Amino acid sequence: MKKYVLVGCGSRGYGSYAKPIVENYGDCAALVGVFDTNRKRAERVPSLLDAGIPVFDDFETMIRETKPDTVIVTSPDCTHDAYIIRAMELGCDVISEKPVTTDAQKAATIIEAKERTGKNLTVTFNLRFSPFAKRVKQYLRQGIIGDVLSVHFEWLLNTRHGADYFRRWHRERKNSGSLLIHKSTHHFDFVNWLLEDDPVAVNAFGTRRFYGPTREKRSERCLTCPYKADCEFYFDITQGVNKSLYLDCEDADGYYRDRCVFADEIDIEDSVSVNVSYSGGAVMSYSLTAHSPYEGFHLILNGTKGRMEIEKLSTELPGYAEDAKEKIVVYNREGEVIRIAQPKVDAANHGGSDTLLRDYLFRGKIREPELMQGASLRDGLMSIGIGIAANLSMKENRRVSLAEFFDGTDGLR
Ligand SMILES: NC(=O)c1ccc[n+]([C@@H]2O[C@H](COP(=O)([O-])OP(=O)(O)OC[C@H]3O[C@@H](n4cnc5c(N)ncnc54)[C@H](O)[C@@H]3O)[C@@H](O)[C@H]2O)c1
Repeated sequence: MKKYVLVGCGSRGYGSYAKPIVENYGDCAALVGVFDTNRKRAERVPSLLDAGIPVFDDFETMIRETKPDTVIVTSPDCTHDAYIIRAMELGCDVISEKPVTTDAQKAATIIEAKERTGKNLTVTFNLRFSPFAKRVKQYLRQGIIGDVLSVHFEWLLNTRHGADYFRRWHRERKNSGSLLIHKSTHHFDFVNWLLEDDPVAVNAFGTRRFYGPTREKRSERCLTCPYKADCEFYFDITQGVNKSLYLDCEDADGYYRDRCVFADEIDIEDSVSVNVSYSGGAVMSYSLTAHSPYEGFHLILNGTKGRMEIEKLSTELPGYAEDAKEKIVVYNREGEVIRIAQPKVDAANHGGSDTLLRDYLFRGKIREPELMQGASLRDGLMSIGIGIAANLSMKENRRVSLAEFFDGTDGLR
């Protein structure tokens, strides 16, 4: 039986780790402590689960008293580094939510701590575990389109999902590193993993013209907004888990889960366009739109033997289930068109990937080890590396090489 503690008891910490550990992994995993800077929210974990999990006021005390094997980090992105490093120094392995961290300086301190302590750090890229992603990976490994020469990748967040990043801490760069780190880390890791290659240089542009101070009718938050009856971005914090985890706990720290998406303080982009070159010679054009009418992605891989077109429209958000569409089509040089049938996906849990990810994390269960679905610190770094370089490219209006800030990552292989 392995012992785990959790730092950060928001929706991800509670819903994706605490709840499943208690309800589904009791035979192999025990949650022996939780910590959050908002004690009220931390106390929700044992009370919502009706489980006797100790709540701590201090991270170090939690580690010293519970002596866990592994610390699970689900606090805001900019705080990951401090917990990862301290956990490793105190003798624990770490499971960190993505992104592993938000900038190059923090990344360097994590690399140093990992080398010094020899502890294990897993970064949770659930996209690698989706049945859909696995299929694409398998077909590439079989060489169905030969060597990949170029990638065209468009990721779309609709105005329900995408807007959520503009309500909370994510909307300030200092917290999330921008969507290029917070969100695109999934997408960059996906391509790095498919190509089995390292990104080397990046050029990026980005704008914010949809969210932010773009309309007159706005307020501090939805709960008290005079325009809420008419606003299509109204977020109801008075029901369910949003009430118990956020509204009922906000007096402890002033964390409003429903801030206005048209606020002045928003300093992240809502549209980005990024070009990436890889060490093996492939090139990628990538874009992220956080205000699309529908949710999903379009990924095109051009190879020496053909072209694979992948399209996935999300099934997990209300309103899209009926139109849900997933397809993989391969065009080869003999003029054939191969349509690859899709497995039925679990509409919840990020397309079923969260369950498979947890089986890997807590049971060490992995069906096809050759697909390398588990992600290391190095994988986490290579994905945020594109985002860090893109941020720098936009700031300094130039092409940026990852070697400018990542040195010595080969030792992490
Ligand atoms: N892989 C995925 O699909 C996925 C999905 C959602 C979130 N995440 C990641 O999970 C993490 C948490 O996201 P969330 O949506 O649950 O956020 P959240 O804001 O709902 O929860 C974060 C929690 O951390 C607490 N906190 C704030 N500062 C802290 C600090 N310094 N120390 C300890 N606790 C602190 C907050 O009080 C809150 O309870 C983020 O890193 C996010 O990127 C990943």
